[in-house]
Parts: sequence; C-alpha cells; structure tokens
Amino acid sequence: MGKLMALILLGAGLALVGERFLTLRERMNAYREVESVESQNCHLIEGIENGSEDIDILPSGLAFISNGLKYPGMPDLAPDEPGRIFLMDLNEQNPRVQELNISDGFDKASFNPHGMSTFIDKDQTVYLYVVNHPHMDSTVEIFKFEEQQRSLVYLKTIKHELLKSVNDIVVLGPEQFYATRDHYFTNFFLVLLELFMDLRWTQVLFYSPKEVKVVARGFSSANGITISLDKKYIYVADVSDKNIHVMKIHDNWDLTQLKVIQLDTLVDNLTVDPDTGDILAGCHPNAIKLLMYNTEDPPGSEALRIRNALSEKPMISTMYANNGSVLQGSSVASVYRGKLLIGTVFHKALYCEL
Ligand SMILES: *[C@@H]1O[C@H](CO)[C@@H](O)[C@H](O)[C@H]1NC(C)=O
Ligand SMILES: *[C@@H]1O[C@H](CO)[C@@H](O)[C@H](O)[C@H]1NC(C)=O
Ligand SMILES: *[C@@H]1O[C@H](CO)[C@@H](O)[C@H](O)[C@H]1NC(C)=O
Ligand SMILES: *[C@@H]1O[C@H](CO)[C@@H](O)[C@H](O)[C@H]1NC(C)=O
Repeated sequence: MGKLMALILLGAGLALVGERFLTLRERMNAYREVESVESQNCHLIEGIENGSEDIDILPSGLAFISNGLKYPGMPDLAPDEPGRIFLMDLNEQNPRVQELNISDGFDKASFNPHGMSTFIDKDQTVYLYVVNHPHMDSTVEIFKFEEQQRSLVYLKTIKHELLKSVNDIVVLGPEQFYATRDHYFTNFFLVLLELFMDLRWTQVLFYSPKEVKVVARGFSSANGITISLDKKYIYVADVSDKNIHVMKIHDNWDLTQLKVIQLDTLVDNLTVDPDTGDILAGCHPNAIKLLMYNTEDPPGSEALRIRNALSEKPMISTMYANNGSVLQGSSVASVYRGKLLIGTVFHKALYCEL
C-alpha cells in the first residue's frame, strides 16, 4: 500500500514538473520564429560587439550606450572585459561611438553596467545613473557627465537592502528613482526555480534618501521601467509575462495599475519617443534561444512601437525584426528625431534612419 502511494505521488510529481516545463517553454516562446521587418536604412554600429544592453538619449541627441553586461544565464562574448559606457552624437551625419572615460575613485575592473537613466538638474548639469552588478551584487552608481571632456566623473554609490537584483531604474529627481527587481532570489539555481514555479515575487521599488519602499509587486520578472512624457505614468515591462503594465504615479510615489498591454514577445527595456510619447520596446521574440545560446540558431531581435498606450486600443507596430542573422537578443530601442538605435544584451547595436 505504502509503495503504491509512493508511486502515485511520484507520478503526480513528475506530471507536475512536466506540465511546468511545458508552460515554461510556452511562456519563453520556444516555438516562435521571427518574420523579418528590416529596412535598407539600418546598419550595425562600428565598435560595439559585446553588448549594448541599455541606451539612453539626452534631449540634445547624445546617446549613452552601456556595454559588457555579465548576467547569470545570459550569453557573454567577452567574459574577461569589464563593462564600458559609450557615447554617440545623433546630430552627426554619420554618428560614431566613443568610449567615455570614467574618473578615478571608481572600480572600473568590476564595472558591470545594466540599466541606466539620465537626470538633468536646474543648472543643466547631466547626471548618469547606472545599475551596476560588481561581483554580482546590485548598486546604483551616480556619475556627472562632462560633455567637453567626454568623461564621467564618479560621484557616489547607492546601496540598500531593498535594492537587490536590480535591473533598471528611472530617475525622478536628485537621488530619487524607481527601480525594478527582476528576480527575488540572488542564487542562480533558486532564480531558475523561481521562474519555473512562477512565484511572482518581483517588485518595483521607490528610492529616495529619506524613504525606500516597495510600490508595486506581483510581477513575474519586472524588467525595463520608464516614465511617460507628462510624468504621470510609469511603464513597467514584465519580461516573462510578455506584457507592459501602465501604472499611475501618486503624490506619495505609490503606484497603482491602470492596465496591462499583452504582447507575444518577451519585453526587455522600454523607452518613450520624446516627440510622440509612444512606448518603444526592445524585445526577445524567443527567449529559449537566448537562454540556450547556439550560434547556428541564434536568438532574434524585435523592436515594437506602442501608440496610445492609455487608450482602449493601443496600436502596436513592429519597427524592426530580425531572426538573429544581423542582430541578436535586442534589449532596447530608442529614437531621436527620425533615428533609431537598437541595443542588445550581449551582441551588437543597430543604427537606423526612419
Ligand atoms: C568583444 O570581445 C572579444 C572577446 O573578448 C574581443 O576580442 C573584442 O575585441 C571585443 N570587441 C569590442 C568591440 O570591444
Ligand atoms: C582618459 O583618462 C586618462 C587618465 O585618467 C587619460 O590619460 C586619457 O587621455 C583620457 N582619455 C580621453 C579620451 O580623454
Ligand atoms: C531601459 O530604458 C530606460 C529609458 O531609456 C532606462 O532608464 C533604463 O535604465 C533601461 N534599462 C535597461 C535594463 O536596459
Ligand atoms: C535568417 O534569415 C535569413 C534571411 O533573412 C536566412 O538567410 C537565414 O537562413 C535565417 N536564419 C535562420 C537561423 O533561420
């Protein structure tokens, strides 16, 4: 009797694991292939090869590009090279990238830049906030940007017990930002378990020197975050749920959910078109190909534009899609006056004239 019970339990356990495995493959879009949407007016950006995970463009047209992310489970083509930040001036006829010099006093050897966000103060000084994972920890580094010297002056590091597994930030004011936490556990195997069991323990945090708090929870894996042009709404990408949450900002910085825009692709980072307010999303059409990297059958890239996000029927269009033959693992799309930049987790970066 005991044996039979054990067999039944084992069978039920295996069925549960099997079922979880199938839903996980489904959620990761294992079966999706990309239909190409490409333009003659796109070319790869010279000088960027080992990732361009985040791109942030200033109102003046200067683009910051983060490079060299090392992230558990993701391919890494340059494991021995520390991360770098590049600058590209989109006002130029044929824009080229230039590496930014980082001032002394900052540990450049362990620099592992992830999400970035810029902040411009009353005096027009530009600050770059960078999520960093030195030795797989999570910190937010604040730099002052010196345009003439093409350099970043290191100012300070923010660490807090709630700022764990940080993916992305959006700066609201001096030392004040929202941050996404993309997984709950920090141990890689527990992270896999978390994804497998679909625990939904990831969050959005609000940080200020006076107060740090969780302002939204229940995401499968909260990833990119950005703010609407009127500063009233926050857009959060849930990468493993393949959707974008539109959230209202309250006076006390709490967030409440207004709606969810469901997509059929794993949404990584979000930006807003400064001219139209449209949401632009860098997406992974098939995440299994990203997680099980194979140069013969590489992960593709997809950049979407979402018009009228607040309306009943947002309009979704594909700005760019490629099966990985040109660009692999796109994580962000950003536009500036008819120019489009697409960044990737570990691969190259693309420049297009729209
Ligand atoms: C990318 O990484 C490879 C391997 O480390 C290195 O040889 C190459 O120079 C890197 N490319 C760039 C543009 O940094
Ligand atoms: C970067 O800084 C180093 C010293 O910190 C200096 O030697 C080098 O010339 C600087 N490069 C640029 C492009 O300014
Ligand atoms: C995503 O883009 C936004 C806006 O450009 C930026 O603030 C954020 O840091 C990016 N995050 C990641 C993880 O790429
Ligand atoms: C990707 O598309 C190109 C044509 O655009 C085709 O030549 C290539 O075989 C495709 N690669 C894969 C892995 O499907």
